[in-house]
Amino acid sequence: MKKSIIITTFILLVALLSLLTNGCNVSKKVADKSGAQLWAENCNRCHNSPGPGEFNNDNWEIVGMHMQVRANLTQTDINKIIDFLKSTNNQ
Ligand code: HEC
Repeated sequence: MKKSIIITTFILLVALLSLLTNGCNVSKKVADKSGAQLWAENCNRCHNSPGPGEFNNDNWEIVGMHMQVRANLTQTDINKIIDFLKSTNNQ
């Protein structure tokens, strides 16, 4: 009985420790996503994704601000998406 309490406590401590050391780290995999990938995963959740070339660069900035709020994206993610969407524009 006593032994099982000690084992359980130990397991909980290890779990807590790993949560404390890793819990708040953004996983590298998520942080490494490209603008194209983020665009493909997010912008078709509510409507068809507008693709690169559908708006000029100035309008992509506005759309970005608007959709960052709608889609609840971080500044880093929306910047990557907007850079990707602007990438085929020369304007
Ligand atoms: C949570 C739902 C949602 C997501 C996710 C979303 N949109 Fe939208 N989007 C909307 C809605 C709703 C509208 C219609 C305008 C409004 O009511 O705000 C819209 C309108 C637009 C428009 C029309 C122009 C404008 O600004 O109104 C564009 C372009 C657009 N979205 C692009 C995007 C892109 C690019 C992404 C990915 C970063 C995205 N959307 C992700 C909901 C979303």
